[in-house]
This record gives sequence, C-alpha cells and structure tokens, in this order.
Amino acid sequence: MSVALALIEKVARAPKAELHVHIEGTLEPETIFRLAQRNGVVLNYPTVESLRQAYEFHDLQSFLDIYYAGTSVLLTEQDFYEMTVEYLDNARANGVIHTEMFFDPQSHTARGVGFEIFMPGVLRAMKQGEANGISSRLIICFLRHLPEASALETFEQARGWFTRYPEQIIGVGLDSSEQGHPPSKFTRVFALAQQAGLRLVAHAGEEGPVDYIAEALDILKVERIDHGVRNLESDQMIARLRDSRMPLTVCPLSNIKLAVFDDMRQHNLLALLNAGVNVTINSDDPAYFGGHVNENYAALITALDLNEQQCYRLLRNSLESTFASAELRQSMVTRLDQYWARH
Ligand code: ADE
Ligand code: ZN
Repeated sequence: MSVALALIEKVARAPKAELHVHIEGTLEPETIFRLAQRNGVVLNYPTVESLRQAYEFHDLQSFLDIYYAGTSVLLTEQDFYEMTVEYLDNARANGVIHTEMFFDPQSHTARGVGFEIFMPGVLRAMKQGEANGISSRLIICFLRHLPEASALETFEQARGWFTRYPEQIIGVGLDSSEQGHPPSKFTRVFALAQQAGLRLVAHAGEEGPVDYIAEALDILKVERIDHGVRNLESDQMIARLRDSRMPLTVCPLSNIKLAVFDDMRQHNLLALLNAGVNVTINSDDPAYFGGHVNENYAALITALDLNEQQCYRLLRNSLESTFASAELRQSMVTRLDQYWARH
C-alpha cells in the first residue's frame, strides 16, 4: 500500500469531531426522492439521476437554490428523525465521535413546518445516536439573506427549546448567501443569544471579504469561524486567528464544488495549518459535495501531500475546538492519542 493510502486509512478510522455540517445538506438524492413520494411532494426533477446531475454548482448561490429545494420534502417529525439518523450513522462510520450540527429552522417554518414538528424528530435521533456512541449537539442557524427581524422571531420560537434542552441545543450560527449580508446585520440577535448563554459561530470568508471575518469576531463575538478561507491574504488577520487559537471549520470539498478554489492543490488549508492557525476539516453538505468528512481528509492528503503529523494536528484541532465540556474534550483527545499510538 502507498504511504498516502495507508495514511488515508489511518485517518479514516481515527476518532474525530465534525464541527461544520448542515443536517439538511446530508439528504442524499435517494432520500429526497423517497420522502417526496411518501409526502406527495412534486420535485422539478423526474428521476434521482436527473437530480444528481443538477449538482453542478458555480458558486454558493447556485448550490443554495437546489439545497433549499431539497428541504421541501421534509414535512413530518419522522422525516427529520430519519434524516438525522442517516447522518449520524454515516458520521459514526467516518470515525466521528462528536458532532455539532447546523440546522436551518427558517427553511422549514417558511413552509409551515414548525419547531413542534422538526425539533422532536432531530432530538429523538440525537438521543439514539448517543446510545450508539456518537455525541451530538445542535446549532441553530439564521439565514442571512432574510432580515434580522426574521432571525429574531426564529430565536424567540427556539427559546423554549434551548431552555428545555440546554445539553442538546447549544448555540446559534449564521449561514446562507454571504455576499451583501454582513455579520453586522445580525448584531441584536447574536447579543440576545449570548445573553441566553448560547455558543456563537458564523459563516464568514466563504465567499465574502476578510472584513466579514473581523465583523463576526468583533461585533457578533463568535467563538468559531465557519470556513474563513476566502480572501485570507491578510497577514494581520492570519496572525490574529493564530494568536487567539480561533477555530476555522474548513470544508475542502465544498470549497472546490463552490469554486472558492479552482483546484484542491490551490487550497490554503496547509498554508494556514503551517502558519499555526487552528484549522479543522469538515463536510459542510456531504450529500452535495462528494463525501463525508473522511473523503475531505482523503482529498487533502492526496492533493496537498499531508504528512502524519499534520493529519494528527487536524484531528486533534477538531476535538479541542468542540463546545463539549472540558472533561469530554480531554477524554476524546485521549482516545485519539491512544488510537494514534497503536496504529
Ligand atoms: N447552508 C448550507 N450550506 C451552506 C454553505 N456552504 N454556506 C452557507 N450556507 C449554507
Ligand atoms: Zn456551511
């Protein structure tokens, strides 16, 4: 076996955390079709193959249009349960021992599907995952293309749920179309979330300028930056991220599919890692971008010729950057260290 293949296998079985995955982005075309049939939803695509063929994106918006169409098949508690179970099973098969999942309530409430439908389904799946050996948390994301008033309304709808399930629903995030929707648009709702004791993250620097990363840090007070790779030519920002150990949840396959970088060999992940930035590897929307977290590691190992030590650092960063308790984080790092020493 080649050295790269052996390393890909070692990493694939290593304990790891996933910190950037949209549950709705884990819906495989087959699942979309199955749920559409079950729920009597008519899709614009006659077959699974034709839907899959439409997965040719040239930027974030061209992806989001299809992604939101895919969510239209989710109508019942059981649908949300099955979607989450399927992701957690896949994640477990990828060596993920802890995951912090994004969820987009507004893409469902806009269709008349409320918290009382989707929350019980997602929570039921998370409980089952826990029994199967994967711990999971939920981060509620606000759609940034909508007004802050809609985010505030969503936050109030969520309040009863995160108050009742503080161990499961741990934070808020910001996603959807980045350009023209700066983090500062969501100042008030993030301040409320912080007051409520929630953890804070935001997508920034996926397509937008480096100023959006600065706004997310300075105005929203986020504790992790989701993506953070685009337009990162600023030495000052790189030094700031490095010195503060600010985690970046990087999604390499997503970045290629959405043309953030032309080619994996041009990805700045290794440069950031070598600069001492706390980068982590994640799948974003695995059903749309060509694979779960292990496929992301494999693509990077192949294209950037990552060595064993660099892979260990990425795995360890993922575990250390979770919002799990200090005890759980330490025990997860110990699991990684024991695995790494034995293999
Ligand atoms: N929602 C789902 N995937 C996303 C991404 N990559 N960027 C922004 N919003 C998203
Ligand atoms: Zn994302």
